[in-house]
Amino acid sequence: MLSRDDIFEELGIGPVWRLREAMPAAPQADAGHRAAPQSADSPPLAARHVPLARWDQLEDAVAHCTACKLHGTRTQGVLGVGDRNADWLFIGEAPGADEDRLGEPFVGQAGRLLDAMLAAIGLARGDNVYIANVLKSRPPGNRNPEPDEVAACRPYLLAQIELIRPKLIVALGRFAAQSLLQTDEAIGRLRGRVHRFQTLPLVVTYHPAYLLRNLPDKARAWEDLCLARRTMQNLADS
Ligand code: URA
Repeated sequence: MLSRDDIFEELGIGPVWRLREAMPAAPQADAGHRAAPQSADSPPLAARHVPLARWDQLEDAVAHCTACKLHGTRTQGVLGVGDRNADWLFIGEAPGADEDRLGEPFVGQAGRLLDAMLAAIGLARGDNVYIANVLKSRPPGNRNPEPDEVAACRPYLLAQIELIRPKLIVALGRFAAQSLLQTDEAIGRLRGRVHRFQTLPLVVTYHPAYLLRNLPDKARAWEDLCLARRTMQNLADS
């Protein structure tokens, strides 16, 4: 017998259904394919049933998204990169200039350090690893993401997680950690333990761009990666 999930999946609205549950106060946003003007009384994304249950739908929605003001300044939406069946999901903040130009997360200097961090625990970009960001569009001048932008992009991230179904999430940096865990606790207090994002274990570490400026904290990042690796190992053993 088909479960409720299967039925929604079949109808192509699986994640949207979940989004409605997950986001009772969904953003005043239009993630549709047309550049509709935003207004305070726009129905929330979930109410519009933007289908996000398949990768092609999600790609299309992100490519044409006008849900926040960033669509006016970005070159392109940057959905993510890697193995769509990955056990490991790394989530950063937002595309920077290089990512905005090339359409792939973490391709600049911070990306090279992220690749080295992956290699340190025996992982490689694209091989059982998927890399995404909280925001799919670049904030101009690499300023911090704003709350309305995070809210507008959250359905995409949730749909992405739903599609990948990773075993473990690593939040890269304060911003990703705080927005995923919906807390304003400092990163120093969030790292060093295993959190939950919905049902998934989530480990917090420093953002590679931060580590480039704060070399001594690389030792702490290494501890975080070891915690993530142990957590994954425990999942495999259980
Ligand atoms: N920083 C991020 O958080 N994400 C990227 O994709 C690049 C830099």
